[in-house]
Amino acid sequence: MNLPSSILPTAEMHGRAQHATSVFNPQSPQAQEIARLFNIDLAICAVILLVVVALVIVAVIRFRQRPGQSEPYQDPGNPKLETLWTVIPSLIVVVLLVLTARTMHLVNPPVGQRTPNVIVTAHQWWWAYHYPQSGVVTANELHMPVGTNWLLGIESADVIHDFCVPDLGAKMDAIPGHPNFLWIQPRQTGTYLGTCAEYCGCEHALMGIRVIVQTPAEFAQWEQDQLRIPIAPAGAEAERGARLFAASSCRNCHTIAGTKAVGRVGPDLTHLADRDTIGSGTLTNNLANLTQWILNPQAIKPGCYMPALRLPEAEAHAVAVYLGGLR
Ligand code: CUA
Repeated sequence: MNLPSSILPTAEMHGRAQHATSVFNPQSPQAQEIARLFNIDLAICAVILLVVVALVIVAVIRFRQRPGQSEPYQDPGNPKLETLWTVIPSLIVVVLLVLTARTMHLVNPPVGQRTPNVIVTAHQWWWAYHYPQSGVVTANELHMPVGTNWLLGIESADVIHDFCVPDLGAKMDAIPGHPNFLWIQPRQTGTYLGTCAEYCGCEHALMGIRVIVQTPAEFAQWEQDQLRIPIAPAGAEAERGARLFAASSCRNCHTIAGTKAVGRVGPDLTHLADRDTIGSGTLTNNLANLTQWILNPQAIKPGCYMPALRLPEAEAHAVAVYLGGLR
């Protein structure tokens, strides 16, 4: 389905600054080290490319075949030259190896420090976030405090995915049964975009990540708010939506704290109103989009595991009013 651009998530939401998404825009010490290594490697490779291209051009022009010229001299071997072109590339490779090992040492969490601040679980095709210290569970939009070195545990519920937020650090595979770890220490508040970076099935491309970096006070407040039983929106439409949600199969897959919905198959919807987007960064979170999503998620994200429930439009609207108002 071609989505009109008006319903796609916009750059600046909730007044938060959105950072450029680029490996050349490092916003954490880890990303900085990776960018530095990348720049050095790029420079070395650029020099090699220039030298090789220059030599090829010189050879093509200077040693081209001229009319009436006989076969050129065939060199049977030149030990000096051969030693030189073996030793120089070997030295370059050793330099790259040492620089890479240094960066890995600086970027990777040391073995032994394995108590993550947040556990990221990749699903086909969304992200679950669990904060073990506080017990907060949320989805798709990862909140974290600025300036603190956070350890992310990266896991997967199904296939191999890859957590990738280029501004903030390395990309890290999410492998079923094999937790990986990633350090991130964001320097500035704001929203950082990322995505799944390992092909994981039909909706791999719509598996966006939003990292919302807040001041420690804002983050503490957010965490407190997440732990509350949500305040259900008022009004007859919302109440109807709540009844429809409770009576339907929605609750088998989704959790809403304080209700009988305790499913873990799909994203936790407890505080859905607090999120910028729905469908893992696919659509702006507003009533119209939420209604469309509930009506037919397959039209927006074909192949996703949320079925079209064939609700009449008025009922889908009521459910959207309810879910979209959960704060
Ligand atoms: Cu998940 Cu690609």
